[in-house]
Formats: sequence, C-alpha cells, structure tokens
Amino acid sequence: MNKIAFKEEFLADLSQNNRGVGVPVGECWNEWHSFSAALLAVAVCATILVSHGWQTTSLVMGGIVIVVVGLMLLRIRWSLDTLSRHSEGLSESAAIAEEHYIDVLLRIVQSVEARDKYSIGHSERVGMLAKNMGEFMGLSNHEVRQLEVAGKLHDIGMVAIPEHIIVGRAKMGTEGFRTVKTHSRIGFDVLEPLQSISAALDAARYHHERMNGTGYPEGLRDENIPLSARIVGAADAYDAMTHDRPHRLALSSFAAVQELRRCSPAGYDPDCVNALAECLNFPVLEEAVAVTA
Ligand SMILES: [Fe+2]
Repeated sequence: MNKIAFKEEFLADLSQNNRGVGVPVGECWNEWHSFSAALLAVAVCATILVSHGWQTTSLVMGGIVIVVVGLMLLRIRWSLDTLSRHSEGLSESAAIAEEHYIDVLLRIVQSVEARDKYSIGHSERVGMLAKNMGEFMGLSNHEVRQLEVAGKLHDIGMVAIPEHIIVGRAKMGTEGFRTVKTHSRIGFDVLEPLQSISAALDAARYHHERMNGTGYPEGLRDENIPLSARIVGAADAYDAMTHDRPHRLALSSFAAVQELRRCSPAGYDPDCVNALAECLNFPVLEEAVAVTA
C-alpha cells in the first residue's frame, strides 16, 4: 500500500467515525443573503414608485426603505461577526479543555502501569512507535498526533482490571482472561467524550482485533479493522515482545519484527509491519527473513 492509499484509508476511517462536526457561525452569512436583501429593497422601492408615481413623497419613502434595509443588513452582519468571534473562543476553550482531559488520562495510564513493573512505560513507547509509523505512512501532522495519543491511551481500559489479575497474569485462567479482554470496551467508554480524536477511540476498542478475525472484541477482519487500530496493534505487540514478561524474556528487536512478519497477514497488517520495520531501520527485512527461513 502506498502513502496516498494509507492517507485515503485513514481519512475514510475518520469520516466514518466523524462525530459532531458543526458549521462555523461566520459561514452562515454569505453574499447571497446580502444580494437577496438588496433585491428586496429595490423591489419595495419600485413598487412604491410604480403605485404612487415619481412624486417627492414616493422618492422619500423609497429612500427610507433603502436606508432601513441597509442598517438592518449592517446590524445582522455585526451580530454574526460577534457570534463568530464567540464561537471561535468557545472552540479554543474546548480544545484546551480536551488537552487537559488527555493529560489527566495519560497520568491515569501511568498510574495503572505502575501497578505492574513489566508494564511501566509500555503505552508511552507504543505511542511513539505509532507516531513514527504514521509519519512513515505519509499521514498529516494532525493524523500523526492522533496516532501518538491513540498509542499512549490504547490500554486506558486496564484501569478497571483488578490488580491481582494484572500481576498474576502469567497464571491467569479463562475467567481472568475474559476479564482482561473487557479493557478494550472499557477504554472506548473512557475515551468516548474525545470526539476529535476518533483514531484513539478506534485504537482503544480494536487494537486486539486480528486480520483473520480471531481477535477481540468483535472479531473484525482485514480492513474492517480501522487503520489506527492496526497500527497500534502492531506497535503494541512489538513492544510487548521486546520487553520482559513474567513468563519469558524479551526478544531482540530484530527477532520481534521477524515474529510479527511471521504472524502476518493472518494476525497483523503486513503494511503496518513493514512500516514498523522501516521505522526501526530494518528496510531489508524481507530478504533477511528469506535468508534465515
Ligand atoms: Fe490492550
């Protein structure tokens, strides 16, 4: 998949999840409204002149109508400009409030990770990897920023998983695993108010989906899995493999990318794995895998 295709797919994901886009107040007024009002004034004047003839009274009445309509137009325009300024101020305040909300959530993620020494720093690293992958794929600054936040917040739902399950996950049974799996839905619920970063919502909800439909929570397949979730899913798996876990030691960076490649396209999106390999300076991974196979 080339960079343009990545971008189109990302934008399609965003528009599919577009929530609450409004029209700026200033755009409600355009030249057509001015033209319509002026036409109405001229029509009224013409009617007066036709019905009363070219008399002084008619001319004065026509002049008054034109002045009144002109003043009304100025007043409406001024009101809309004021509304537009207030609207921009509100948008700015909303953006600042959202940044604060994201900051609070990032701190919650850090405190959740602090419960388990094996998880510390995981989300931060996944965020940076997802950001680098997005840049490699040619996404815009705004989209890359969304991916970074998506990576950092993808496991926010773990906040609801009891500590004894997290710490004892090496011996976790079916019931424990079922509980852990709820973190993707809970993460989505926590992030849902953040309508402007829909990529983060998708990543939180679907980063455990797999290309062959064996993932959770919905068993989505292939490109039905939002691109942001496929990117974060690959970054998440890579980071987990390259760090110690209670039941195993960390793989090397190269071995982890090889493992991701082995698990695609069934598990991970091959384009995302390639992007990850490129970000990690493994551009000749394909040949390397062929040699070691
Ligand atoms: Fe997760």
